[in-house]
Amino acid sequence: MPDNLFIALEGIDGSGKSTQARLLNKNLSERGFKTYLTNEPTDHRVGKLIRSIFSHETEANQHTIAALFVADRLQHILDDKNGLLQKLKEGYSVICDRYYFSSYAYHSVFVDMDWVIQINKICAELIKPDITIFIDADPEICMQRLKDKRHSLEMYETLDNLKKVRENYFKSFDKLKSSEQIVIVNGNNTEDQIAAEIEEIVRRTLKTKK
Ligand code: ADP
Ligand code: TYD
Repeated sequence: MPDNLFIALEGIDGSGKSTQARLLNKNLSERGFKTYLTNEPTDHRVGKLIRSIFSHETEANQHTIAALFVADRLQHILDDKNGLLQKLKEGYSVICDRYYFSSYAYHSVFVDMDWVIQINKICAELIKPDITIFIDADPEICMQRLKDKRHSLEMYETLDNLKKVRENYFKSFDKLKSSEQIVIVNGNNTEDQIAAEIEEIVRRTLKTKK
């Protein structure tokens, strides 16, 4: 069994995913792993189109947005050079800041969750994370962090929406718990506490994979 992992980090906006993705990347590379840090939406043109919808430059229906995320994800998985499958084949441990659980949680505020799971099925068949780590931070705390960090908030960044998205994450975990490896960490803790907990989860995941 190869000892490289595919790790997905999930959480509502401002929960600390990017911070933890960076810290985990540093930790794993210091321990001698070849690592590849990546995120969704991607920098591919489909990802850029998605970002232009979020900044209200482009109008799109919520079903269309969910479908665009599937297209972006498929390219992310299948790209010949930098695709997740290719990177894993080359022995990289992949840390992915958001993956398909983001779709289940965010789009099902507007459209049926089972439909979102259905259209993402091809992605789950191509590659499932060895572990999905959900950083569970309080929506009020996340809103405050986002306000401190940025001048303008994006499409989904209202308190009401963050609360709904958090609930949807839990609903999707419940639906898929028999076929996915999911762990939840307390995102209200300090960056160092969360990083230590994630390090321990990754050690455990490596042990079970070997
Ligand atoms: P996300 O990628 O989930 O949106 P970020 O990692 O960008 O979140 O973090 C959002 C903001 O909150 C950043 O300004 C970051 O420095 C800060 N932050 C991240 N983790 C914590 C934490 N555990 N405690 C306090 N602030 C944090
Ligand atoms: P991201 O750049 O990760 O935002 P942040 O750093 O603030 O967490 O993601 C941009 C937005 O895209 C975020 O609000 C969540 C949303 N999103 C979806 O709606 N569906 C998806 O499948 C993914 C991956 C992200």
